[in-house]
Amino acid sequence: MARHLITSAIPYINGIKHLGNLIGSQLPADLYARYLRARGHEVLFLCATDEHGTPAELAASKAGKPVAEYCAEMHTVQADIAKGFRLSFDHFGRSSSPQNHVLTQHFAGVLYDRGLIREVSETQMYSPTDGRYLPDRYIEGTCPNCGFDSARGDQCDNCTKQLDPVDLINPHSTISGATDLEMRETKHLYLCQSKMKDQIAAWIDTKADWPILTTSIARKWLTDGDGLQDRGITRDLDWGVAVKRGTEDWPGMEGKVFYVWFDAPIEYIACAQEWVDAGNGTDWQRWWRTDSGAADVRYTQFMGKDNVPFHTLSFPVTILGSEEPWKLADYIKSFNYLNYEGGQFSTSRGRGVFMDQALEILPPDYWRWWLLSHAPESSDAEFTWENFQSSVNKDLADVLGNFASRVTKFCRSKFGEAVPAGGIMGAREDQLIADLGARLADYQSQMDTIEVRKAAAALRALWVLGNEYLQEVAPWTTIKTDPEQAAMQTRLGLNLIRLYAVLSSPFIPDASAQLLADLNADDAAWPDDIAAALNALPAGHAFTVPEVTFRKITDDERAAWQERFSGQR
Ligand code: 2FM
Ligand code: ZN
Repeated sequence: MARHLITSAIPYINGIKHLGNLIGSQLPADLYARYLRARGHEVLFLCATDEHGTPAELAASKAGKPVAEYCAEMHTVQADIAKGFRLSFDHFGRSSSPQNHVLTQHFAGVLYDRGLIREVSETQMYSPTDGRYLPDRYIEGTCPNCGFDSARGDQCDNCTKQLDPVDLINPHSTISGATDLEMRETKHLYLCQSKMKDQIAAWIDTKADWPILTTSIARKWLTDGDGLQDRGITRDLDWGVAVKRGTEDWPGMEGKVFYVWFDAPIEYIACAQEWVDAGNGTDWQRWWRTDSGAADVRYTQFMGKDNVPFHTLSFPVTILGSEEPWKLADYIKSFNYLNYEGGQFSTSRGRGVFMDQALEILPPDYWRWWLLSHAPESSDAEFTWENFQSSVNKDLADVLGNFASRVTKFCRSKFGEAVPAGGIMGAREDQLIADLGARLADYQSQMDTIEVRKAAAALRALWVLGNEYLQEVAPWTTIKTDPEQAAMQTRLGLNLIRLYAVLSSPFIPDASAQLLADLNADDAAWPDDIAAALNALPAGHAFTVPEVTFRKITDDERAAWQERFSGQR
C-alpha cells in the first residue's frame, strides 16, 4: 500500500465551469483517486476554489455583491456541483482561507530572504478619484488600433490587440468613470525565476516519463527567447493576500496583494491544512513535508495545458527556492482542450454544456463515461451530441446495462431471484477467465499510468467479453437440454455483473454502487484473482433485478439539447 497525494487545478471562483473544464482536471483526477483507493492505497485528494484576482472582483461587482460574500456563495455553488458529479475530494478548500494567507506570506518572506524576490519601481496609472492604482483591466478607453471605444487596458476585445493602458485614447477608470488618471511611480515585487532556470530545467530533465504535453510546454518556456523570465507577483487590488514578509509588513507595499497565480498553487498545501483544521485528519505534514514522512508520498497533479507553465515553472520556483522541505510534484498529467460542436465552449454566448446544466438533463455517470472515454489527451477533442448519444447508447446501455439486465431477468424467470448452483465450469469458462485476466492487466496498467482513454477502452473490452460469452453459450437455449449447465452459466453471469460493478466504479460510481446494492454484494474489493472473484456470489445468494441501469438517449432529445446549448439565441 502506497500513499498518494492528488491535486486538481483549482477552478476560478467566478461562474460555473463547462464540461471542457471538468475533463481538463477535476474529473480525471477523481478517476485516479477512486482507482487508487479501490486498489487499497491511502489517498489524499484535494481541490479548492481559486478566489483572488481581478476576475473575482469584477464578477462580484457585476453581481452587485461584496466580493467576500460573492466568493462564499459561489464556493457553495461549485462544491454542490462537484458533489453532483461525484468528485470525491477529501477536501474542497478555498484559496481565500486564512491558512493560505499565512502560508503565502510565509513563502514570500522566505523567498525574499533567499534573494528570489526583488522590488521593482514602475510607473502605473493612478486614479486620484478612486484613491488607488488601477490594474490594466480597470482602465478602458478607445483602441488606438481599431477605434473600438471600450478597449481594456490590457487588450482590445474588438481587434484582439494587446495593449498597454498608456496606449488608450481617452482612458477612464471603470470603477468611477474618472478621467483624471495620471502615471505615478509605484513599487512591485518580482519573483526571480531566471535565477532558478537551470535548477528547474534539471528537474524537468529528470521527468522522462511525464506526458510530452507537460514537458514540451515547460521546455518551451525554459528555452524560448532569453529563457525563463522573472514574473511580477503583486497587484493593486483590494481582494487577495496582503503583501507581507511572513507576519511583517512590507514597506512600500501597502494596499497591494499577491498576484492570484502566486497564491493559487500554495493553496494546494493550505488545503491540506484546511482539511485537518476541519477535523478530518491529524497531520497534514505527512503529506506535504518531506521531513515529516511525505518523502514516501507520490504526488500527482492534474491540469489543463494552459496551467502547465505555472505548475512546471513558477510553483516549483516557489517550492525549490524556499529551500524548505516541501513536496514537489512527482507526476504532472495535463490535458488538451475539449471543443464543442465544431467551435469552442463560450460562457458569454452560452455555447456548450455547463456543469449545472449537464446534471439537469442526465445523471453524472453518463457524462463521466463520455468525458473520460474521450479525454483530450493526445490532442484536442470535440464534444458532439451525435457522438455522445452513440457512446451512451452503445457502451453504457447496450454493452454494460443490457448485460446486467439480461442475466438478472433470465435468472429471475428460470431460477428465481437467487444465484443458481449449476454444474462445474468448463473449457469455455476457463477461456473467459483467461481473457478477463489479460484485459484486467491491461486496464490496470492504463490506470496506473493515467492513460484515461485507453483505460476506458480496456474497461469496455472487459464488458464486451461478458457479452460475447453470454451470446455464445446462450443459457436461454442451453436450458432446454441441460439446465445444470444453464444454471452454471447464469451463476457466472451474475458474478460477472458484480465484477464489472467493482472494476467500473472509478468511471461510473453511481451505477456501480447501484448494481452492487441490487446484487446484495458486500464484497466490493478489487479482484486479485479473476476465478475467485467469479465465485464471490455463492449459490443461493439472493439478489434483485436492477432497474434500468442506463437508458438510451432518443433522437428527439439529442436534437432538443443540440438546439438548447447552441448559444444561438
Ligand atoms: O485555470 C484555472 O482555472 C486556474 N484557476 C487554475 C489554478 S491551479 C493552481 F495553481 F492553483
Ligand atoms: Zn482594437
